[in-house]
Amino acid sequence: MTISLTEEECRFLVDLANETRRRAYAPYSGYRVGAALRTRSGRIFTGVNIESAAYPTTMCAERVAVYKAISEGERDFEVITVVTDNGGSPCGGCRQVLAEFGLETLVIMADGRGRIVWQATVNELLPGAFTPKDLPR
Ligand code: THU
Repeated sequence: MTISLTEEECRFLVDLANETRRRAYAPYSGYRVGAALRTRSGRIFTGVNIESAAYPTTMCAERVAVYKAISEGERDFEVITVVTDNGGSPCGGCRQVLAEFGLETLVIMADGRGRIVWQATVNELLPGAFTPKDLPR
């Protein structure tokens, strides 16, 4: 399924992720991440990274957004914007979680000035992903 995203919608979602980033809880890394996830129904869920003094329990911004959406009954994702200072891309764990809910979800990565550095589908970010269809039922 193709995604119809106007330039304005893209800008809105990038700016929203960037503004949301202010609420990141990243006292250990100082690396603040913001995400904005839009579902096919048009709802938007934001997320920030949430670190912990017990480092491995840290949660990424993308997954916070995904989990918020899932817990609100939304599983059909269209696009997620991810904003960091340097335009970094989602970690492997987040790619896997996004893949669970659709390989065609568009991932737009932008830097702290709101410049888009890259955009790719989950399928492109995680080729050959292990997905629900790989599990025998
Ligand atoms: N982080 C994210 O929020 N998303 C990613 O995809 C990459 C990493 C966070 C986790 C941690 O709080 C900080 O960035 C440094 O790794």
